[in-house]
Amino acid sequence: MTNNYDFSTSSPRENTNAEKYALREKLFGTNNVIPVWVADMDIDTPDFVLEEVKKRLEHPIIGYEEVPKSVFLAQIEWMEREHGVEFALEDMLYSHSVVASMNVAIEAFTQMGDKVIVQTPVYPPFFHSVKEHERELLKNPLKLMDDGTYTFDIEDLKSKIDERTKLLLLCSPHNPVGRVWRREELEQILELCLEHNIVVFSDEIHSDLVYAPHAHIPFASLSKAAKCITVTAIGVGKTFNMAGFAMSSVAVPERELREKFLKVYNRVHFAQGNVLSHAAFEAAYKEGKVWLEELKIHLYKNFSMLDELCKKFPHLIKLTPIEGTYLGWLDCRGMGLRDKELREFFVHEAGLGLSAGVSFGREGSGFMRLNFALSSAKMSQVTEKLQRALQNYRKKSDRDKLE
Ligand SMILES: Cc1ncc(COP(=O)(O)O)c(C=O)c1O
Repeated sequence: MTNNYDFSTSSPRENTNAEKYALREKLFGTNNVIPVWVADMDIDTPDFVLEEVKKRLEHPIIGYEEVPKSVFLAQIEWMEREHGVEFALEDMLYSHSVVASMNVAIEAFTQMGDKVIVQTPVYPPFFHSVKEHERELLKNPLKLMDDGTYTFDIEDLKSKIDERTKLLLLCSPHNPVGRVWRREELEQILELCLEHNIVVFSDEIHSDLVYAPHAHIPFASLSKAAKCITVTAIGVGKTFNMAGFAMSSVAVPERELREKFLKVYNRVHFAQGNVLSHAAFEAAYKEGKVWLEELKIHLYKNFSMLDELCKKFPHLIKLTPIEGTYLGWLDCRGMGLRDKELREFFVHEAGLGLSAGVSFGREGSGFMRLNFALSSAKMSQVTEKLQRALQNYRKKSDRDKLE
């Protein structure tokens, strides 16, 4: 395959308002870290997206704009071609944020005191949103297998579901553990949800970032019945590094579910989105295929670099095998540090700003999440820093053992 795109370097983001950089002092107590936490990429948003945005700016009026049908149609076509799920135009709703859509779903499909299933460790807004709505969190932790991968704990889920259980928040692919759920796994979840009338909010925001031979299976594509109980959140904010456009969408094919969802959605005024995002999204869906294929090759190379590095320190750190997302889930339990000490090691010894595993739930204790969606140049800096810190750490622990 020839390379059309170059991911070797990226534009500097220091001194911009990039969250990843701007919040370093607040989160890590210093600006002296390479930030590899929040899930966007240190890779330039593709030109074919930026060009369409510039073109739109040639018109001097930026008034209210409905999401053009063509945006949803481009998205529907992409979802069908890339992921084998069929949505109709009337199924699609605009959203400025997946997390906001999740909050709408919690309010629309549950009442105070109802239980919402969350599979930890998981992206923190999953459990924060449930708690903030004063719903009961039904924690169904993922099962950590001997090979370091995760799967659903169906027996645990079966034993916990009761008549107050109304909603399951599915993370598919899963942030932070990097799993791309297989059909058989999803079908087990589906069976339980159908049996107990549980609605599924399927957050599929990472669905394009999946590495062969793995393939994303949209929950709504499992069967007709699955489609009727599923609200799917999708978008290309992660895929083409355009989270700052604040746009995604929600597919709600079943009429009654959609009416319930819309009641809350309209009450909190999701409005129409913004004109620049519309242009950006349509361009990404229409022109992004080749860029994405090359990006995934690049990302997987970064993952392999990280993996090679971790393999040099097998007693200290293990990198969870990855199937999707650009988030490396590091099992650092071998280092024997408490969570606070582990965070300090990465900040002060390695000069890196990672997400702490415990922030994804108690099951993340001893883990750290490293966002490896970086240019090659930045990835080399990150691995060099980490290698040096781990070498020093190993030397120091060997010395301590001798003393
Ligand atoms: C699984 C998952 N869902 C949602 C989001 C955030 O989406 P949004 O910015 O559209 O709320 C993220 C961002 O990291 C994520 O990883």
